[in-house]
Amino acid sequence: MKIALGNDHGGYHLKEAIKTYLEENKISYEDFGTNSGESVDYPMYGQMVGEAVALGKFDKGIICCGTGIGISIAANKVPGIRCAVVSDTFSAQMSREHNDANVLSLGERVIGVGLALKIVKTWLETEFAGDRHERRVNLITEIEQKYNK
Ligand code: RB5
Repeated sequence: MKIALGNDHGGYHLKEAIKTYLEENKISYEDFGTNSGESVDYPMYGQMVGEAVALGKFDKGIICCGTGIGISIAANKVPGIRCAVVSDTFSAQMSREHNDANVLSLGERVIGVGLALKIVKTWLETEFAGDRHERRVNLITEIEQKYNK
C-alpha cells in the first residue's frame, strides 16, 4: 500500500506524526508537503494528493489542514476522489465500509494526535463493504460524470 500525504501549515505537525506512524508500521508514503508551519494556501495540496490518488499512483491519500475542511473540499474537486473529513473512529470505519473513501482528511486544530492516529489506523485497515454501498458510490460517480462532460 502506498499513501499520498499532503497538508497546509495548519496541518503540518499532524502530518509529521502520521509520517512517523506510517514508518513505524512499514507503510510507504510520499509527502507532497508543505513542510513547515509557514503559511501556504491549502487548495493546491488537496489537489496534488487528489490527483495522485485519482491517477492510480497511490492507493489512498491522507491530508491535513487546520480543520480538515478546506483541503478536503479541494481534494473532492478532483474527479474520482471521495474524501471524508473525519474526527471519530466510527466515521473512519464507515467512510471506508460504506463510502469507499479514498482520501482521509483530518483537522490538526480539531482533534488530538492520539485520536488522529487511531483514526488513521482504523481507516487504513477497513475494507469497502461493496454490495448495496457499491451501487450508491456508483451513483455519486454518475453525478460527477454529469458535470465533467
Ligand atoms: C489556515 O489558517 C486554515 O484556514 C486551514 O488550515 C484550514 O483549516 C482550512 O479549511
